[in-house]
Amino acid sequence: AAVHFHEFVIEAKPVKRLCRTHSTITVNGQFPGPTLEVRDGDTLVIKAINRARYNVSLHWHGVRQLRNPWADGPEFVTQCPIRPGQSYTYQFTIQNQEGTLWWHAHSRWLRATVYGALIIHPKLGSPYPFPMPKREIPILLGEWWDRNPMDVLRLALFTGAAPNVSDALTINGQPGDLYRCSSKETAIFPVEAGETILLRIINSAMNQEMFFGVANHKQTVVAVDAAYTKPFATNVIMIAPGQTTDVLLTADQTPARYYMAAHAYNSANAPFDNTTTTAILEYKSAPCCAKKGQSLKPIFPQLPGFNDTATATAFASQLRSLSKAKVPLEIDESLFFTVGLGLINCTNRNSPRCQGPNGTRFAASINNVSFVLPRRNSLMQAYYQGQPGIFTTDFPPFPPVQFDYSGNVPRGLWQPVKATKLFKMKYRSKVQIVFQDTSIVTTENHPMHLHGYQFYVVGSGFGNFDPKNDPAKFNLIDPPERNTIGTPPGGWVAIRFEADNPGIWLLHCHIDSHLPWGLATALLVENGVGKLQTVQPPPLDLPRC
Ligand code: C2O
Repeated sequence: AAVHFHEFVIEAKPVKRLCRTHSTITVNGQFPGPTLEVRDGDTLVIKAINRARYNVSLHWHGVRQLRNPWADGPEFVTQCPIRPGQSYTYQFTIQNQEGTLWWHAHSRWLRATVYGALIIHPKLGSPYPFPMPKREIPILLGEWWDRNPMDVLRLALFTGAAPNVSDALTINGQPGDLYRCSSKETAIFPVEAGETILLRIINSAMNQEMFFGVANHKQTVVAVDAAYTKPFATNVIMIAPGQTTDVLLTADQTPARYYMAAHAYNSANAPFDNTTTTAILEYKSAPCCAKKGQSLKPIFPQLPGFNDTATATAFASQLRSLSKAKVPLEIDESLFFTVGLGLINCTNRNSPRCQGPNGTRFAASINNVSFVLPRRNSLMQAYYQGQPGIFTTDFPPFPPVQFDYSGNVPRGLWQPVKATKLFKMKYRSKVQIVFQDTSIVTTENHPMHLHGYQFYVVGSGFGNFDPKNDPAKFNLIDPPERNTIGTPPGGWVAIRFEADNPGIWLLHCHIDSHLPWGLATALLVENGVGKLQTVQPPPLDLPRC
């Protein structure tokens, strides 16, 4: 196995999109950041050097980080942020994972521009479970604002209003040619007629779930979140922030130019970015492209409507793990987590901070607890050092009262309680979590991401989860394995996993406006004697608060 050394210099650089230039936080001057390519079993050593004027930390989204929470990255969870002028070296080994993951800043809203692909090839000599594609192309879906995303966040947090919607969606940092002034800002992917390529699609957008399609071409889904799936063909995929989807595509159409396009899947009753981003799949033998100078208008794909929940659901229900899944059958910890928005009362209703309905502030919660990041220390450092007063471990396994989550929500539950509560569980517990969307403020799709783990998605549905009848319908044979799963709008989703990775692991909604509002908690997984001997000692350069 190889060791890969990289320096990631995090610094502001002028980036121009849609005819406007602004100072953008980049890695090594690149936006999006560098692609990391490794093999299963390799070790990455990445020195993050902070030359920006913000605190920063980096997260390796989907990497298991077994017994190594110190390299996971969320600020104030597993580490204190890297201050301007400081550095920290993330060191971790890929253990039995292959496929497409990604990395991103995990510090306030910096991930809007600080992100990149992390591609894990199989061990040397071990093949893909499908014919070797001729080319592999990372497709990073993103969002672009006409102003600094950190200012967008500051405004959103200050007013308590929904963040401004983005001004463009992007593919590999480029909006595509359907926006004002963007004709040159289009990613173009040349292909030979007849060849099969692998698209490694990553949704790195802040707030948008998306539909993605390629004109006239079928996509064959072969993996999600670095776990292989039984292949199936589809015209369109749905992908939530945090998720990855690998598809095979054969260039079997008339040589021409074809748009790849993505737009929002959004069923919430709130403003969203309803624009369409494009890139171009260009046959090298197409008339335009063989003879330079001739233009050829690309053909446009059909995408579902913005709120086409039926198509989104049908897509998700086709996902099956390729091999027999190791789903826990007996459950030690059965948790029921409501996920949704809320409103916090303001003492001064006329304050500009209170722009929610009736002079309230927006919040979000799990089981009515709105998660607050500590400031004095990170959770993991406080735990390891035995420092009291940073968090409590009384996160409730159920909501305070059962109610009709699909509509008739008691008014008292609109007001979550702010706290830093963790859910503590024993190492090696077999865990089931049902996430239930509430209809508080609006029904919404919440993509839930668990750090440090892969889990099985055993079931989902609309309306209220029925603990009597729904578990009988769970797929315990070949459910898809993921690290991020969308809770359907006004519905529920159930996951299972074995808590085989000790440490403190953030569990949160990957919609980045919901995270600072508190749609998070953390799982504290510890071995029988309440100590963390099974966790590696922290690196010497781990930042302190
Ligand atoms: Cu991709 Cu906690 O994040």
